[in-house]
Amino acid sequence: MKIGIFDSGIGGLSVLHLARRYLPNDYFIYYADEKHVPYGEKTKEEIMQYVDEIIQFMINKGVDVIVIACNTATSVAVKKMRTKYNIPIIGMEPAVKKAIDTYGYAKVLVVATPVTVKGEKLHYLIERFDKDHLVDNIALPKLVRFAEKQEFDSQEVYNYLVQQLSSYHFENYSSIVLGCTHFNYFKDSFRKILPHHIHFVDGNEGTVNHLMQYIKSHEIQGDVEYYYSGEKVTDEKQLERIETYLTRLDQMLRIK
Ligand code: DGL
Repeated sequence: MKIGIFDSGIGGLSVLHLARRYLPNDYFIYYADEKHVPYGEKTKEEIMQYVDEIIQFMINKGVDVIVIACNTATSVAVKKMRTKYNIPIIGMEPAVKKAIDTYGYAKVLVVATPVTVKGEKLHYLIERFDKDHLVDNIALPKLVRFAEKQEFDSQEVYNYLVQQLSSYHFENYSSIVLGCTHFNYFKDSFRKILPHHIHFVDGNEGTVNHLMQYIKSHEIQGDVEYYYSGEKVTDEKQLERIETYLTRLDQMLRIK
């Protein structure tokens, strides 16, 4: 059995990174759609088409299960892709329920891409679990661009976050939901701005749990193959680039 994981770019490495910790003997294919990132600033039609192509790519590679390690792609395309293809598809969505269940009666701020924030899927999710109207959301599209450039804790990142978050009264909030997989790289930068009582919540653990439930009866040995928009990544420099992201994700996991 092979597991295909994809994202618009390097954000989904945070899901792969966690999945490999729990499933060290499984075989992964990781696909970053570097040609089309950022999805969060594209139309729904464009995203639908990219996702469709990636799923066909994954099927041709012989994967048995696909993880959409992208909240934006899930928001737009998971429903349609599940009706179109027989292959099991695990999606991810901002962990609103987890934040409310874990931290109780206090406000929650969801940070995500513009497409996710505007999407019906998030609105239904909030409607279902946010009976007391505790959930706010904001799009932070520039973080995706910063992450793709490996710019994680520059003055520009700091200024951007200060500017975007300055109107929130964080004393009323319990947590911030990282509703875009690219945002996991910025936990230290968020930390500099947010008061200490604010917790980070992301959907990675939940997504990997779904994957584990699915594959628990299979045993596979292996490594990861990386693809950039259909091109296998073999170039040393590019593989080093991916390693840099994975190393940073190790550091980010330690930040609570
Ligand atoms: N990493 C993606 C997500 O989780 C999308 C980032 C983008 O391409 O805009 O939403």
